[in-house]
Amino acid sequence: MMRKPFVAGNWKMYKTVAEARHLISELVPGLQAIDAVEKVLCPPFTALLAAAALLEGTDIGLGAQNMHWELSGAYTGEISPVMIAELCRYVIIGHSERRTYFGETDDTVNRKVQAALAQGLTPIVCVGETLEENEAGQTADVVARQVRLGLSGLSGVIEQAGAGAFVVAYEPVWAIGTGRPSTAQGAAKVVREIIRPVLAELFGDMTAQGVRVLYGGSVNAKNAAEFFAEAEIDGALVGGASLKAAEFIQIVQAAAG
Ligand code: 13P
Repeated sequence: MMRKPFVAGNWKMYKTVAEARHLISELVPGLQAIDAVEKVLCPPFTALLAAAALLEGTDIGLGAQNMHWELSGAYTGEISPVMIAELCRYVIIGHSERRTYFGETDDTVNRKVQAALAQGLTPIVCVGETLEENEAGQTADVVARQVRLGLSGLSGVIEQAGAGAFVVAYEPVWAIGTGRPSTAQGAAKVVREIIRPVLAELFGDMTAQGVRVLYGGSVNAKNAAEFFAEAEIDGALVGGASLKAAEFIQIVQAAAG
C-alpha cells in the first residue's frame, strides 16, 4: 500500500502576521519543489488569512491548530469548523498541549474529528503517552484508548471518504520540545503494534494500511531521515524545527527520500 509522505509544521503560539508572512515567503520556493510529499503549515489562527493568500496557487496546504466542534454559537473565544474550512484543508486535533493545558479529552477530540470530517477538513489526530504513563508501562493502553475513542463512530464516514480523509500523529509527550526524541524503532513499534491494529479494528485492514501515521516530538533536520526510514512512519508533525525555513525544507526533503 503506497502512502504519500506527509509533513506538517505546527507553529504553536509563535509568529505574528508579519513574521508568518516572512517565514512563508522563505518556505514556499523550497517546499514547492518537493512534489513527493504532502506539505502542510499550521500557523496560529491570526495568521491564517494572510497565510491562505500567500499559499494560494501552491501545492502547500494550510492547517489550523485547533477548532470547536459546533458550527456556530455563543462560545466566546472559539473558532468553528466552518470558519476553518473557509481558509484551510487541515486541522490539528487533540494535540497533547491541548489535552494537558486546555482540558481536552478523548470525547472532545472525537467531537472535533467528526466535525472536521463533516466540513471536508482533514484532521491530524494527535495521540501519545506522557512520561509517567510511559514509565509505568502504560503506553499501549493509553495510545490504543486515545485512537479508539478519538476515532469512534466514524466507520461510515471513513468508508465513504477513504483512508486519506484523516492522518494520525504519534507524539509521545516526553519527546515534545525536549530535544529528546523517541528512537525511530520505538516509534515504529508503537505504530505497528498499537496504532495500526486499532485502526484495523475500527475501519478494517485495508483502510488501516492506507492511513498516514506520523511521528512527532523533537524531529529536526538531523534525525528526520531515521524516522522516515521506518516503513511504518509516513511523515512527521514538526514543532520547533518548523519555525526555521531551511531546516523545515530539509525535513520535507528527507521525507521525499
Ligand atoms: P517539537 O518538534 O518542538 O518537539 O514539537 C512537536 C510537536 O508537538 C508537534 O505537534
